[in-house]
Amino acid sequence: MSLKQIIAPSVLNANFLELGNGLKAIENGGAGLVHLDIMDGHFVPNISFGPGISACVGKGTCLPLDCHLMIENPEQYVEAFAKAGAAYISVHAETTNHLDRLLHQIRELGVKPAVAINPATPLESIKYVLGIVDMVLIMSVNPGFGGQSLIPYCLDKIRELRALCPELDIEIDGGVKLDNIVACKEAGANVFVVGSAIFGKPNPEEVCREFVKKIS
Ligand code: DX5
Ligand code: ZN
Repeated sequence: MSLKQIIAPSVLNANFLELGNGLKAIENGGAGLVHLDIMDGHFVPNISFGPGISACVGKGTCLPLDCHLMIENPEQYVEAFAKAGAAYISVHAETTNHLDRLLHQIRELGVKPAVAINPATPLESIKYVLGIVDMVLIMSVNPGFGGQSLIPYCLDKIRELRALCPELDIEIDGGVKLDNIVACKEAGANVFVVGSAIFGKPNPEEVCREFVKKIS
């Protein structure tokens, strides 16, 4: 992918009874990834879905799956998400004592490893693994729910990371809307997770296309 500008719609707030249509809508709208938010009710105060639903999504779309694991003990589950067809697996630095080992484990499963950090987690905590990941996910809300407002200081973090790594894919996740996505791009992000601002709208295809236009 390296440095392509990509919209990665999150299906977290989609209507799951209509998910097939939702996936078609974002494909037609020009999305580049499908972002899957995996929540366990422990690391984050919400529960979403697991590898079974993720595999169904994979069968229902030609877009690559971007699995964002917000779960404790990620080591135990990465294989299941690899089998579900993940193209990327993001693990939170806050969830493991052995981040280096976990990122290698993901790559050995044939999946692109990414590391995610919460708003309050400093870049310093991932500095030494920047060379072994395919993407860094910067949370711009406290993870757990869609529909929250972007925390402005997270853009400073992205700016800092972009200055440090001009070639790195940087994904921003949380509170991205049509009226702030250009600021996110200017800060240095190139992969944009958009949840409620696409799936909370009556015409996800059209809105997705508007998002793509904003970053092109
Ligand atoms: C939050 C998730 C996000 C979220 C994005 O925990 O990681 O992917 O669903 O949704 P919006 O765009 O509504 O903030
Ligand atoms: Zn996410």
